[in-house]
Amino acid sequence: MSALLSLRNVWVEYGDKIVLERVDLDIEAGSFVSIIGPSGAGKSSLLRIILGQEVPTSGTILLDDIPLTPECGPDRGVVFQRYSVFPHLSALGNVVFGLECEQAPFTARLFGAKRRGAIAQATEMLKAVGLGDSLNLYPAQMSGGMQQRLAIAQALIKRPRILLLDEPFGALDPGIRADMHALITQLWRDYSLTIIMVTHDIREAFALGTRVLTLDKRRRDPHAPHRFGATAVYDLPLTKKFKAEAEAEESITLDRVGNN
Ligand SMILES: Nc1ncnc2c1ncn2[C@@H]1O[C@H](COP(=O)(O)OP(=O)(O)OP(=O)(O)O)[C@@H](O)[C@H]1O
Ligand SMILES: [Mg+2]
Repeated sequence: MSALLSLRNVWVEYGDKIVLERVDLDIEAGSFVSIIGPSGAGKSSLLRIILGQEVPTSGTILLDDIPLTPECGPDRGVVFQRYSVFPHLSALGNVVFGLECEQAPFTARLFGAKRRGAIAQATEMLKAVGLGDSLNLYPAQMSGGMQQRLAIAQALIKRPRILLLDEPFGALDPGIRADMHALITQLWRDYSLTIIMVTHDIREAFALGTRVLTLDKRRRDPHAPHRFGATAVYDLPLTKKFKAEAEAEESITLDRVGNN
């Protein structure tokens, strides 16, 4: 079986700065890939090119064996750490808007039965993320956790197959984060999603992922730090047993990742 998403010799450069080099990846449908790595390693850049927001400098990205078109297709949804939602729209308005853009790309407005259908779908999605009682709240009236639930609903309403998450829980309190972990795991199963999540939290990466990918530079030039890019230096599939051990441990070091 071929992979859902394949990156072949992908490079991302900004001017003379090489951010990602020689990235080769195959991501299977249904996997939950956690991506970790130092700040500036190019994790967000990688998500942007998978989303289709940016085109790699060279290399190919295949979705179902077909080269990615340079646009954000409905098969990929994204949630950022913050500011994914529109402040001037209610929760329901934010989610309906996603459907309006898709179904009426020129006017972004639906009317009559179509609008009623969109509202029903959006309401269902908001219930699925735990915001069934908050349909008419505006983002400013919501906690950080609720805003992220809304951002997830907004991303999922178009029924993407791949959900891209860029440090989605990084700004949340630990207790709220645990609730969000339960939610995202549930949605991943219920909607048969493939998830690619960037996180700075190694425990989170191991707890949620079926695979943990570390992006970093293999080589460095101390006199010209921009000359070499980062790539996947560790790529660890996680078995259930390994996950249980990792969760029980106080700290997980990258050494441990490399040795397994
Ligand atoms: N549009 C751009 N133009 C120029 N340089 C850029 C651009 N976007 C990103 N970069 C540079 O590419 C490098 C990687 O950035 P990126 O945001 O992908 O890193 P990251 O791994 O997500 O970091 P963080 O963990 O801090 O979010 C950085 O050095 C950044 O300055
Ligand atoms: Mg980033």
